[in-house]
Amino acid sequence: MKVVLLPGDGIGAEVVAEAGKALAAVAPDVETSEHPIGLEAIARDGEALPAATLAACEESDGVLLGAVGAGDYSWSASNPEDGMFALRRALDVYANLRPFRAGAIDLVIVRELVGGLYFGERGTRADGTVFDTCEYRPDEVDRVLRRGFELARRRRGRLTSVDKANVLATSRLWRERATALAADYPDVELDHLLVDTAAMRLVEAPESFDVIVTENTFGDILSDVAAALAGGLGVAASASLGDAGPGLFEPVHGTAPDIAGRGVANPTAAIRSVAMLLEHGLDRPAEAARLDAALNRVAAGLRTPDQGGNATTAELGDAVVAALGADARQELADA
Ligand code: NAD
Ligand code: IPM
Ligand code: MN
Repeated sequence: MKVVLLPGDGIGAEVVAEAGKALAAVAPDVETSEHPIGLEAIARDGEALPAATLAACEESDGVLLGAVGAGDYSWSASNPEDGMFALRRALDVYANLRPFRAGAIDLVIVRELVGGLYFGERGTRADGTVFDTCEYRPDEVDRVLRRGFELARRRRGRLTSVDKANVLATSRLWRERATALAADYPDVELDHLLVDTAAMRLVEAPESFDVIVTENTFGDILSDVAAALAGGLGVAASASLGDAGPGLFEPVHGTAPDIAGRGVANPTAAIRSVAMLLEHGLDRPAEAARLDAALNRVAAGLRTPDQGGNATTAELGDAVVAALGADARQELADA
């Protein structure tokens, strides 16, 4: 099995270093290789997603991405975020699963990842008007909705489809398709929520949600809201899946220019993303569970600054590796 590591920029590289150690410790037989994406790739090759990086990803069994972006928003011809969009699109990983867990909160946002407002036509007219468009074909909506239904069926059986059907034509299509597909999933209870109401309900009663399925932009925004309610961006992981081919696994957070280079970023989101890679990408649920358990035990005693502690990125990563080793020795002793 081959896994591609794409550290990327800022804290992306710092957290992927720890995630790589955790992967090596829990699944030593997995072969890894590292490739440039984002600013580093632009500096080296002039493009955010070099052909060699994409080829390595396509030939792999799973891709772990840190984060890309400078955070200065002065876009040049090739900006780092474009590399990530190109990768998501090339792998056609349309279903972005973002689980959130804390106390009574246990929900998953399924964010459509390769369409909608992010990928519609955009441009500038002669009079200076600038436009972005949101477009969806029915089959693009159906495939991500089905992921939502299937996930809900394996969980608590409740799916909330989030849209803005009182305004947007794409949202009306979304709502129509969700209602139609519900007939195939009689064991799942479907409801619809407008996105503004969904944002409020997330803050007021996050425990009332099981699975949320929604458009790309809505999912981006709602997932940061959910992250804020469930431990912050330092712990929020994600899996982006298509129908075939490798999945893309990445923390929800970005390159965090405000703390980059200081070695204090929380690697938990990246390490949880490795667990998601093991479960969804490599079909190795036992190792995924071991890694999750090790992470939970470490988190109980060791915290990075975002969680109110003073541990460094590497200290947390090393502690996870040590916990995995202790577990393995315990299992041997028990056997
Ligand atoms: P961000 O997620 O990088 O940071 C938001 C806040 O959360 C910051 O205060 C940061 O310090 C904190 N934070 C994030 N991750 C953390 C971690 N692991 N540990 C501790 N604190 C953490 O969002 P931003 O500042 O708006 O964006 C910075 C850059 O990252 C932009 O260029 C953006 O486009 C990019 N970005 C990339 C990805 C990605 O590659 N998947 C995702 C989000 C943002
Ligand atoms: C995310 C990020 C990206 C997105 C940015 C960096 C373009 O915020 O993965 O959530 O909006 O998809
Ligand atoms: Mn985001």
